[in-house]
This record gives sequence, structure tokens and C-alpha cells, in this order.
Amino acid sequence: MSQTEDTAGTRRDFLFYATAGAGAVTAGAAAWPLVHQMNPSADVQALSTIFVDIGDVEVGSQLTVNFLGKPVFIRRRTQEEIDEARAVALSDLNIDRDARNPNRPGSDASDENRSLDEAGEWLIMSGVCTHLGCVPLGNGAGDFNGWFCPCHGSHYDTSGRIRRGPAPENLHIPVVTLIDENTIQLG
Ligand code: FES
Repeated sequence: MSQTEDTAGTRRDFLFYATAGAGAVTAGAAAWPLVHQMNPSADVQALSTIFVDIGDVEVGSQLTVNFLGKPVFIRRRTQEEIDEARAVALSDLNIDRDARNPNRPGSDASDENRSLDEAGEWLIMSGVCTHLGCVPLGNGAGDFNGWFCPCHGSHYDTSGRIRRGPAPENLHIPVVTLIDENTIQLG
């Protein structure tokens, strides 16, 4: 490995792109098959900032990337999902009314406080059930059309808020920034 490659591979802000369409991740010049996306090298797991290419994520689909050793769901929601999430009154959130969003600390769990953009198209969340850490099923799963954790039956709505089951908290939002229409930064 040349000095240049070595330096690039250990930079704290090393670029890490995931492409939904190709199902591949590139880190520097290396292209890995999808399996590596969920099982990255120790180097990649340790990166505190990654950039994800979201340009190929279609409306109504979800890209899952690994960040700091855990899955992160990147959902491009349909208008129906957004409307459903925004129609929920806070008083209906009987388990957790905290946004669990470090980008808006202390805010309530309205969908506007959890989605990345104002229109609510992008919902970026940790893919780790807040009960005992299983990875919930997505794509409209569960009684609230969002995510469902089959381990012990936790149902999350289209905003990733816990609505039924043993999980005590909404799915957590990571530190995330919308860089441009095709790119988000995690961390
Ligand atoms: S780990 Fe998800 S419901 Fe128990």
C-alpha cells in the first residue's frame, strides 16, 4: 500500500459511499459486494463520519448502510407514509414522545422533528430495535405500516415511533446532515 492510500484509508473523514442501485459500496478505489456493506472491515466500522449517496434510492424504498457497526435505515418515504406519520397526534404516542433526534435535542416526537427534510421525504434512523437490539423488518411492516421487530413483537409507525410492544423508545435518529439532494452525511 502506498503512503497516499494508507493516509486516505485512515483519514477520519474518509468518504464512504453506498449506492442503492448497484448494491455496492465503494471505499476509495475498492468496490465490495453487498455483503460487505453490512460486514465492513474494522477500518470502516471505526469511521466516525460517512457520506452516503442517496441519489438512487427510489420513493417507497429503503437503503440500509452500516455505520459505526450498526445498521442505519435510509427511507425515502411515499407521500402516503408522510401523511400517515404527520396525522398522528402526540397524545397517541403512548410509549415515547421524545423525537430521539440528536439533531433536534429535546424536541417532541412529531414527524416533523424526526424526518430529515422539511417535506418529510427522508427518514434516517438506526435500524436497531430499542427493546433488545434486533433489526426490525421494514417496508410497511407491522400494525402501523412502518417497521416490525419480530423478536418480541414491537410495532413502529411510518415515522419509526414505537406504537405497540415491549420496545421503550422510538427508533433513534443518528447525527445526520443533508449535504445535497444526492448525499447525506452520517456522523
Ligand atoms: S428486540 Fe425488538 S421487540 Fe425485542
